[in-house]
Amino acid sequence: MSTKMSSVSHSFGGDWTLTKLQILSKYLKAYNVALDGKPSLDRPFRRAFIDAFAGTGYRSVGADLPEDTFRPSIPELEIVDTVRLLDGSARMALMVEPRFDKYIFIEKNRDRCNELSALRTEFPDRAASIQIYEGDANEEIQKLCRANWAHHRAVMFLDPYGLQVDWKTIEAIAATKAIDLWILFPLGIGVNRLLVRDGNIPLAWRRRLDSLLGTTEWFDEFYKLETRNDLLGTDITQITKQGIDCIGQFFINRLSQIFPGVSRNPAILRNSTNCPMYMFCFAVANPNGVKPAMKIAGDLLKKVERNGTRK
Ligand SMILES: C[S@@+](CC[C@H](N)C(=O)[O-])C[C@H]1O[C@@H](n2cnc3c(N)ncnc32)[C@H](O)[C@@H]1O
Repeated sequence: MSTKMSSVSHSFGGDWTLTKLQILSKYLKAYNVALDGKPSLDRPFRRAFIDAFAGTGYRSVGADLPEDTFRPSIPELEIVDTVRLLDGSARMALMVEPRFDKYIFIEKNRDRCNELSALRTEFPDRAASIQIYEGDANEEIQKLCRANWAHHRAVMFLDPYGLQVDWKTIEAIAATKAIDLWILFPLGIGVNRLLVRDGNIPLAWRRRLDSLLGTTEWFDEFYKLETRNDLLGTDITQITKQGIDCIGQFFINRLSQIFPGVSRNPAILRNSTNCPMYMFCFAVANPNGVKPAMKIAGDLLKKVERNGTRK
């Protein structure tokens, strides 16, 4: 792992950041080893890594709040004084051996795109394979997914701070039948914070949840009407918010409706007070690749389950 100082500070996450990047990096290696290790097939597919919320290539531990965090107050992402730069997902992917044929980095922030471009100098043997798209991840992914995937395979990493991913994007990824998807789902840091206790959710927040989950059915799953008698024997109906597990299960079930393979044991990434912040999920779009991909991902996720978030 390398460290450096940078003019474009990019700070995010807690210990969960390391956990998800370790899982991703190990998966990328195993994926390329598995696909490289079939000489008789003579590498029939071109392989890409697609990082759709790519950042800068580095992650700084400390410094500023992400500018596009959905809710204003997220103590787990607060300012600290010391800044250390460690490898982010883009660098980690570039270091993986065997290598990918192509690296596609999507990032909406121009300064961060410029930082990503500098990776071409750092990795000269991969420079020609690096493509950087400055733009919105949902738009760029949906465009990419409309291409002909017959001779291409990819691992995609969706690593938003919050609720930026649209369900339409996830559907487009599934429709390629060629992409293995790792997605960071904003369980406690995003969805649970919008589900106000009395169910009276502001319309803009409801719409955002509809786009994230691709349905309005979530409301009846996350809130239950319960009737009980009061002291005078009168029926009282009250709305009860369900636990955070229910949100995670709902998203895994939604993925299972469109992907032929979905890990049922996603990594629950917790903060220092053990609250679930994110859920790191894995889904396979290629029906022929389900078995090996699920085995590799399942083993990596089981290790997190056994060791806890901070391993
Ligand atoms: C958590 S950071 C990504 C970190 C990176 N994956 C890593 O490990 O180094 C999220 C990034 O997504 C970018 N971003 C936010 N909304 C976006 C969008 N709609 N489209 C593309 N990038 C976006 C932010 O500028 C930020 O750099």
